[in-house]
Amino acid sequence: MLIAAELKNLLEPAQLVDLEITWLAADQPTPKGDWVALVPLLSRWVGGTQLKHLPNLRIVANCAVGYNNVDVVAAEMRKVIVTNTPGVLTEATADLTWALILATARRLIEGVDLVRTGQWTGWHPEQLLGLELRGRTLGLFGAGRIGQAVGRRAPPFGLRIRYTARTPKPEFERETGAVRVDASQLLGDSDILSLHVPSTPETKGIIDGETLARMKRGAILINTSRGDLIREEALATSLELGHIGAAGLDVYTEEPTIHPRLLAAPRTVLLPHIGSATEDTRRKMAASAVANVQSVLSGKPPLTPVY
Ligand code: DGY
Repeated sequence: MLIAAELKNLLEPAQLVDLEITWLAADQPTPKGDWVALVPLLSRWVGGTQLKHLPNLRIVANCAVGYNNVDVVAAEMRKVIVTNTPGVLTEATADLTWALILATARRLIEGVDLVRTGQWTGWHPEQLLGLELRGRTLGLFGAGRIGQAVGRRAPPFGLRIRYTARTPKPEFERETGAVRVDASQLLGDSDILSLHVPSTPETKGIIDGETLARMKRGAILINTSRGDLIREEALATSLELGHIGAAGLDVYTEEPTIHPRLLAAPRTVLLPHIGSATEDTRRKMAASAVANVQSVLSGKPPLTPVY
C-alpha cells in the first residue's frame, strides 16, 4: 500500500502487520503502479488521473474526515472504495473551534501583541473591549458530529443556539435548547456564526458578499471546516468595513497560501489548519485510515465508507 510518510510516527508497527508499505512523501506526486491501497493526507488530490495510474487500487483511505481532496465519482466509477476518519476528531475540532470563538470574542491576539510589543501602557476601562457571550446567539451552519459538539459546549457560556441541518436533531435540541432555523434566519440571528458543513459543489462559496451583508453588524465568523466555504476576498472587504466584527479561521481556500487581503484584514485569528491537531486524535485518525485498509484487504467491508 501507499501511505503518506507523515503518518509514520503516528502508527505502531502492530497496526501495519501484513501490509507491504511504500511511504509517500508530501512533495512526491502519486506514482503509477500496482498498489492496492492508498492512504493520503487531505493535501493530496486523488482524481481521475491518479486513479487511472493505480489500476489495482481497491481503497483510498483518506486520513481526514473531509474528503474533498478525492474525486469520489471517479473512484466509484472505478469501484474503488473511499473511506474517511469520522468520529475520532470530533472533540478535538470542537475544542479548537471554541479556542477561535473565545480568541475572537475576547480579542486575545491583539492583547498578546500589545504585551509582546511593549506597547501596553496599563489597564484602561475601554481597552480591547470584546463581545460578552452570555445572552448572545451561536449559529451553527451545519449540525453534524462536529457542529453538535461545538453546540454542546455553548450552554455553560450562556449562549442560545440556532442551527441549520437537513434533518432535525431532537436529542441535540433536548440537550442544548438549540432551535433549527433556515439559513436566512441563521445569518440574521447569529452573533457568532460557526461553519460545520463539508465542502461540496452546493456549499462552496456559501459565505459570500451577499450572505456576509445579511449577517449582523459586528458578528463573528468562525470556520474550522473547509476554506472554500468562504469567498475570502468578500470576507476581507467585510472585515475592512467593520461589518463582520471578527473572523476566526483554521482553513483556507488555497492552503497553505492565505489570501493577502485576509492576512492584512483587521480582527482576524488565523490558524494553520490544526483543528484535529492533538497527539491522541492524530494517532486515532492514522489508525482509523489503516484499519479501513486492513478491513478491505482482508475481504471485509470498509469500516467508515464515505458512500
Ligand atoms: C479533517 O479531518 O477533515 C480535518 O480537516 C483535519 O484536521
